[in-house]
Amino acid sequence: KITPVILSGGSGTRLWPLSRKSYPKQFASLLGDRTLFQQAAQRFADSASYAAPVIITGSDFRFIVTEQLAEVGIDPGAVIIEPEPRNTAPAVLAGALYLISQDPDAVMLIAPSDHAIPDSAAFRDAVRRGLSAVAQGKLITFGISPDRAETGYGYLELDGRPDADGAPVDLRRFVEKPEPARAAEMVASGNFLWNAGIFLARAADLVQAFQAYAPDVVGPVERSVRNAKADLGFLRLDPAAFSGAPSISVDYAVMEKAPNLAVVPFSAGWSDLGGWDAVWREQVPDDNGVSLSGPAEAVDCRDTLLRAESEGQVLVGIGLDNIIAIAMPDAVLVAPKDRAQDVKKAVEILKAKG
Ligand code: GDD
Ligand code: MG
Repeated sequence: KITPVILSGGSGTRLWPLSRKSYPKQFASLLGDRTLFQQAAQRFADSASYAAPVIITGSDFRFIVTEQLAEVGIDPGAVIIEPEPRNTAPAVLAGALYLISQDPDAVMLIAPSDHAIPDSAAFRDAVRRGLSAVAQGKLITFGISPDRAETGYGYLELDGRPDADGAPVDLRRFVEKPEPARAAEMVASGNFLWNAGIFLARAADLVQAFQAYAPDVVGPVERSVRNAKADLGFLRLDPAAFSGAPSISVDYAVMEKAPNLAVVPFSAGWSDLGGWDAVWREQVPDDNGVSLSGPAEAVDCRDTLLRAESEGQVLVGIGLDNIIAIAMPDAVLVAPKDRAQDVKKAVEILKAKG
């Protein structure tokens, strides 16, 4: 069976003011009734092919995690707590080492919790197609056809054309978060897919890749797993050891460097809900490009997202064009839609002001 390893320690600052330090976006119902984290867990709640999920998160979120899993009737295999956020490489390696301690042949599916994938069954099919390459020691990525020169994603250069049944294709190169000009070139060339940020591999192969390409991550994380303490059903990585790990993403640490990557193309719908512009798109705007949620009303608006999350308060837009407005009880964001990515900067400014 495949073990889903769900990463849910990110801070999601570009979705402020819905996403908060104490309650980041993956735990909010951004689209649909369930939170993104719940949707990520439910995607692989298929006991024929998947083991119980392993969750890796921060200490502040541990009870949110268990509560939200209970709400959807999922029992975690383990909830691993990172003493501090160190980006995804240490988290992924900790997950791999933990799984190997349970089963040296474990196969893991690393699943972020900030995605919308409407068709879960189609995604599980794609995972199944990747297993043949996993058996050959490959690290599997999932590739999305790009529709714009997005700079916030990784790009996968294929070594050959994908065939009709979507079998894994070897990778020539993995380019994480390119400059705009480079991104545009790659999209135009037609030979690149976006990296979905979901990975499938034998845990042992992943550890081997860390040893080869990110050896500085290995020692601290290995010690933090070896000296981890069970605590009320959680597994706490050793803080002193873990703090020695560099803060780096798995994409830069391993995926850009490892030669044994393959990609399974996935075309049934995927979105990284990385900013309000992406949420606007996923909410399927009406013919005027208007997306509404909560008690919100748009009069003569175009290309606009209005989201009201404050009880007893209505949000009304008149004659707006290219605007996002998010009203929370204690904070309101108003910005041009094409500046959605700059919300991160605003959050940094607010943070600096305390
Ligand atoms: N446990 C834990 N600890 N989880 C983390 C941490 C951490 O320190 N940092 C981030 N995460 C979680 C986030 O919550 C998210 O679910 C996932 O790991 C990915 O992190 P992001 O920070 O959202 O990565 P990204 O979106 O910039 O880039 C990745 O995803 C893209 C597609 O969405 C890369 O894999 C790109 O190559 C990819 O295109
Ligand atoms: Mg992301």
